Amino acid sequence: MLNFEVINPTRIVFGKDQLERLPQLITEFSNKKRILLAYGGGSIKTTGILNKILMHLTDFEVIEFGGIEANPQFTTLMKGVELALEKDIDFILAVGGGSVIDGVKFMTGAFYYEGDSYEVLQRKEGKVFTKALPFGTYLTLPATGSEANSGAVISREELKEKLTMGGPLFFPKFSVCDPTVVATLPKRQIANGITDAFMHTLEQYLTFPTANLLQERQAESILQTLIEIGPEVIEHPNNYKLASNLMLCATHALNGNLRCGVPTDWTTHMIGHELTAIYGIDHARTLAIVAPRLYENQFENKKEKLVQYGKRVWNLEGSNQEIAEQAIVKTEAFFQSLGIHTKISDYSADTDHIAEIIKTRFIERGWLAMGERQAITPTDVESIVLNAI
Ligand code: NZQ
Ligand code: ZN
Repeated sequence: MLNFEVINPTRIVFGKDQLERLPQLITEFSNKKRILLAYGGGSIKTTGILNKILMHLTDFEVIEFGGIEANPQFTTLMKGVELALEKDIDFILAVGGGSVIDGVKFMTGAFYYEGDSYEVLQRKEGKVFTKALPFGTYLTLPATGSEANSGAVISREELKEKLTMGGPLFFPKFSVCDPTVVATLPKRQIANGITDAFMHTLEQYLTFPTANLLQERQAESILQTLIEIGPEVIEHPNNYKLASNLMLCATHALNGNLRCGVPTDWTTHMIGHELTAIYGIDHARTLAIVAPRLYENQFENKKEKLVQYGKRVWNLEGSNQEIAEQAIVKTEAFFQSLGIHTKISDYSADTDHIAEIIKTRFIERGWLAMGERQAITPTDVESIVLNAI
């Protein structure tokens, strides 16, 4: 088992009818009782969530900041930072999915940053957020796990860039996770949520066999649960048993637990972020496009774990070679069973030079040896993308 250190200070308030907890949870961090309520494109108005939240926050001065896009945009978020500074708020409540929560994480750091916050995302030398506003979340879409971690991914459309950030400053103080929100989601977003949670688990599992037997079985439990409930929850989003298990899987897949003492990969995510930056494809869908091709490319390096995954998660039988191959086929078929297309050309006809562009970006960023064995080179990345077209 690898050495590890882990901390997760986020208070998860999970279950039905937890809204009344909000005033008390916020009061702990907001002396001024003047808060920014950040949200996305408006689903929280049509679902009625905004009104319900406002009804519970009558003791607070609430400044609303809406319009955070799916794949939150740097320029929009900087407008939110300006508003937060102008109104002198001392707490942000993020109400939304991964995009709103990630956007708020960035805003809480940019609030105190002197200079161009984009430099921090570009990881320019010495440019870091050193202080952040406290924030909490009300999760409306189980998928990313952002409600329970300190990472964020921020996009900049005009540069076709999507960059990661994070660190201990960016854990939510609390996250209210009410599975009944699943009933309001379009099928596409539920499918995305299942796929993203599945892939977060695989990124921390499908590497090579480890001595951490517990983490391996925990990862397998999440994968099996998602396979069991996935197609059903899309058809029956009102079913609380299914919805609550989906939400719990998504949170547990990326709250920092699965990575304890094991190697991780994350290359599927890094390639996927490029596909979103260039084509605007939903995050989870980019993962379903990349992962099967990456596993084929890294077949020998991941073979032992593919066999374990095939046997334990998919109950496959046969030779090791057959099981490993079928495990990849099953994974892609699972995504497709959720209604997710797994080829770039299913989303865009303009695929010329895409593999070369992504390879060049990886080289420019110095990402020359990725994956759990540092075996994935930019040339592999090019080949993975070519095979995904
Ligand atoms: O914007 P609104 O109108 O609210 O609509 C949203 C959005 O269009 C809608 N939606 C959300 N909750 C809803 C709802 N519609 C109806 N009812 C509800 N209850 O769903 C759409 C997608 O929302 P978004 O927040 O973009 O989805 P998701 O949660 O999948 O987040 C994706 C973003 O998170 C990043 C991704 O890269 C992407 O930018 N990720 C963040 C991670 C993290 N912080 O740990 C890890 C992930 O790997 C991922 O990279
Ligand atoms: Zn993801």
